Amino acid sequence: MPGTIIVAGIPGVGKTTVLQELEAVAREKNVPLKIINFGNVMNELFKKRGKAIHRDHMRREEISLQARVQQQAARVISKTPGNSALVVDTHMFVKTTEGIWPGTPRKVLEALDPEIIILIEAEPEEVARRRAADSTRYRDTGSVEEAKSDLQWSRYMASANAVLAGVPIQIVHNRDGQQRQTATDILDIIQKRN
Ligand code: AP5
Repeated sequence: MPGTIIVAGIPGVGKTTVLQELEAVAREKNVPLKIINFGNVMNELFKKRGKAIHRDHMRREEISLQARVQQQAARVISKTPGNSALVVDTHMFVKTTEGIWPGTPRKVLEALDPEIIILIEAEPEEVARRRAADSTRYRDTGSVEEAKSDLQWSRYMASANAVLAGVPIQIVHNRDGQQRQTATDILDIIQKRN
């Protein structure tokens, strides 16, 4: 069951939490799966360039540098060895100091060559609450309006990606306390691919 699956979600939607559950559920069901966090790969590449910065600060770097590191990260990820399905944990867009910037522009999308895009969503109120409560990260504001707008941007960007790559989009909901169910929904989608 090889192939690449893009899983994206706006900050605070609970992406890391759900993907940790996905790893556990896949292991329990003996489904071979590899999960790679795009931000981690970028962060390592920044370090190799002599820029050891916090993961939440990468988006404040110059776009031209972020774009080079982003493309390099996509190439590294595309060379991941193994025969299991590859889940790429990433963002449909990144809020930079220069504006809203695509997480998977054409060259990145081509390198990743996904079969499907899965968006993790939650109610804007839930996202705002989770952002406000999470003191471990450097988040932007915790307003419901901003969460609503981010959720919309994520869909706009996913739709552009789907058109370019000719792949479907699935949306899963990460309701409060339901992270295991969300992970199970994602695993079902992955297993039902042709
Ligand atoms: P990344 O690490 O992917 O950033 P992030 O979205 O900010 O963080 P998380 O994945 O941790 O997401 P989350 O906030 O949704 O999840 P959490 O589980 O913590 O990326 C880092 C950086 O890399 C980006 O900012 C960007 O600069 C760069 N990057 C990545 N991809 C890129 C790309 N393609 N191009 C360019 N740059 C890229 O959840 C939040 C809180 O909610 C937690 O407190 C948790 O306990 C709680 N929670 C979660 N689920 C539930 C639930 N079901 N019920 C109740 N509480 C819940």
